[in-house]
Amino acid sequence: MSLTPTQPVQLLSDYSPYPFVLSQTRLDFTLSPRGTRVVTELDLAARNQITDLVLDGGKGLTLESLAINGTTLDAAHVSRDDETLTIAAAALPQGGFTLQTQVLIDPADNTAFEGLYQSGGIFCTQCEAEGFRHITFYPDRPDVMTTFHVTIRSDLPVLLSNGNPVSAGNGVAEWHDPWPKPAYLFALVAGDLKAVSDSFTTKSGRKVDLNVWVRPGDQDRAGFAMESLIKSMKWDEDVYGREYDLDVFNIVAVDDFNMGAMENKGLNIFNSKLVLASPETATDTDYERIEAVIAHEYFHNWTGNRITCRDWFQLCLKEGLTVFRDQSFTGDMRSAAVKRIEDVQTLRARQFREDQGPLAHPPRPDRYEEINNFYTATVYEKGAEVIGMLKRLVGDADYAKALDLYFDRHDGDAATIEDWLKVFEDATGRDLAQFERWYTDAGTPTLKMTEDWNDGTLSLTFTQSTPATPGQPDKPARVIPIAVGLIGPNGDEVAGTQVLEMTEPTQSFTFDGLATRPVVSALRGFSAPVMLDRQMDNATRAFLFAHDTDPFARWEAGRELAMSALVDLAQGRDAGAGYVHAIGALLSDGTADAAFRALCLALPSEDSIATRLAALGITPDPDAIHAARSGLALRVAETHQDLLASLFDRTEVTGPYSPDAASAACRSLRIAALGLLARIDGGQRAKVLFGTASNMTERMAALAILLRLGKGSAELQALYDEFGGNRLVMDKWFSIQPMAARPEDAVRIAEQLAQRDDFDWKNPNRFRSLLGGLAANHAGFHAADGSGYQFTADWLIRMDAVNPQIAARMSTAFETWSRYDDSRKTHALNALERIAGLAGLSRNTREMVSRMIAVGT
Ligand code: TRP
Ligand code: ZN
Repeated sequence: MSLTPTQPVQLLSDYSPYPFVLSQTRLDFTLSPRGTRVVTELDLAARNQITDLVLDGGKGLTLESLAINGTTLDAAHVSRDDETLTIAAAALPQGGFTLQTQVLIDPADNTAFEGLYQSGGIFCTQCEAEGFRHITFYPDRPDVMTTFHVTIRSDLPVLLSNGNPVSAGNGVAEWHDPWPKPAYLFALVAGDLKAVSDSFTTKSGRKVDLNVWVRPGDQDRAGFAMESLIKSMKWDEDVYGREYDLDVFNIVAVDDFNMGAMENKGLNIFNSKLVLASPETATDTDYERIEAVIAHEYFHNWTGNRITCRDWFQLCLKEGLTVFRDQSFTGDMRSAAVKRIEDVQTLRARQFREDQGPLAHPPRPDRYEEINNFYTATVYEKGAEVIGMLKRLVGDADYAKALDLYFDRHDGDAATIEDWLKVFEDATGRDLAQFERWYTDAGTPTLKMTEDWNDGTLSLTFTQSTPATPGQPDKPARVIPIAVGLIGPNGDEVAGTQVLEMTEPTQSFTFDGLATRPVVSALRGFSAPVMLDRQMDNATRAFLFAHDTDPFARWEAGRELAMSALVDLAQGRDAGAGYVHAIGALLSDGTADAAFRALCLALPSEDSIATRLAALGITPDPDAIHAARSGLALRVAETHQDLLASLFDRTEVTGPYSPDAASAACRSLRIAALGLLARIDGGQRAKVLFGTASNMTERMAALAILLRLGKGSAELQALYDEFGGNRLVMDKWFSIQPMAARPEDAVRIAEQLAQRDDFDWKNPNRFRSLLGGLAANHAGFHAADGSGYQFTADWLIRMDAVNPQIAARMSTAFETWSRYDDSRKTHALNALERIAGLAGLSRNTREMVSRMIAVGT
């Protein structure tokens, strides 16, 4: 299959350096909502001989003046199109020169939240990936790096930019960032903000002022973010030897933000939902996310900022590594075993889903139409998995050596994946040519494992295969680290975990001198992002679920018990006895970690059951899947009613709320038990818990359980009465209703919510809450009459005209459309074609829908 682009395509193979060297950028902003003036001075010199000077910057920039070394340019030498401004080579002096531009921009009219915009009266910026070109004319590419000197003129009380403050007062603030950086790391914030402040002294003695800036009145919800920042700074020193490098570190929370947060040098900007938390308004999951994202953005200071990307094809160089680092941090702060299982769940739910559909791409793509469409689970989460594999292959000591060399060799560079791999080759002496395929090839390999036992010798034979993905028909064998353990019949570990290094399409490994045939624990710790295909009976699965010493593999054995039962149930076959029995043993096992038991009690999601069925060549029926999952949960509840009830009673966390991992684990186990019990007590306990709980974790969980039963309207009203004025709580209120609704009610509920005055749909969080809530209701979104598709398409069309990034991102609700039955497929394709047919559709959404349509036609 070939992709036929309808718009220009960017190719990795087209890379060439920018023909000019930029040695300093000076920016002077006079802020005003409808007309902000930006005066820019760029100190430039031709890299070799002088060519035309092409700057990025489109129609949104009103050009007021353009001069070189103080002399206004002759209009004959200047040309503009929709995306660039070009100054003819003939107008450029030999040697260095200063280009001065003056433009007018309109932040109040910026609903795309890219460039300089206003959010609730706060001026703020978002420049990654290509937002700076909406602020001024500039070589807006990550390999053009320079120091920035910024002047901000405004009557607003707080005026912030990157780097260190130079001066402030009388409506003018000056900032200087001594570290050369690309424009995507530029940031400016101005507003009536209040700080929660602290400080951190680095290991070499630099005292850093830390501020978390929020709207007046929100200070009491910013403390946890500050604690998380301090922990992150310490961890990066202790584990990676990385110190902070400026006198101040500022974090700002804003309500309108397209993504989670942004690592602008010294001035991180966050979606307020990833900063603000109090026990009454935030859940345990929110707290964990805040801690992780604060760490993620902070860690970018080295992996992203000090070492950045040569071009956007290399995005996973900074994102994969920074995700890998934030995952390790959370593992160290909380439970490493639980974190690993959660990360695998996310990877499968988002990245495997992406890899198996029309949007599949490698962690390092080699073509794109719109770069904002490539901030994906593949670039982020699979990018992190690839680093985890690398670490496992070379070992911890060599990983540390390679990272030291990376920071040493590439500090100040805009680097590539080749640079990254070369560092590992030089530090370890390994040849990583085959390993590089993990970066260049899309698709999730299937790893088939068979066993052969003969007279004290066990051989394991693995066969790898990866299906074709859009644009990549052939998939040569990759190197796959397979962590394996052997467990004796009495449940004891025969030998510790070994990492088998598979390099061939088919390969066998033998273990000899074994007294009795062991049970194989394969792919421990999820040592590679593959799908393990292994014939195993339920007794063996139950054995591993009871005895495996590797927490991931143990959890996985339980999940496979559940998944195989659900696959049968969804096809009308009786199944589940093995799972129900094994869960009973786990429930009675008081030694198992609470969070681990909670994870084991959760059945695979409906979407993941559909994915499994599709992988088996079976067309998934969303209603049958829903019924199968509910039926199995009911059976667990009926069989283990007494165990669950006593678990619910015994795991109550008393005393004041604390978001720590141990308390959160008890709450999650208790909530898992509650969810099952509700299938037989009619929601009685959930109703009581909603009324008595003082924290949002339990209230939200209880509400979701009630909504799943078609109840909960009094509780919804109560929550609204209490928190109607709190945006973040109301976002939860908007998302939980379509998400937890009975499938047959979901679209109607979403439609009603969309009619409300407080459905402030231009706010990305609110839009995502409602549309994402419906998309997360598998059988609801995939309603047989196509109403879920139609509703979603209507809103994507509406959003696209206002905020293309958000519309394109939400369009991934459709990414699995082609795996369903013909009738659903027709409805989905109609919806996609309706979007594609729209005049004036954004490049973002056009690329997404055309890739999705291409797979089914
Ligand atoms: N670099 C950010 C991060 O992962 C991602 C990001 C924030 C982003 N805002 C964005 C990407 C807007 C694209 C567009 O930490
Ligand atoms: Zn990032």
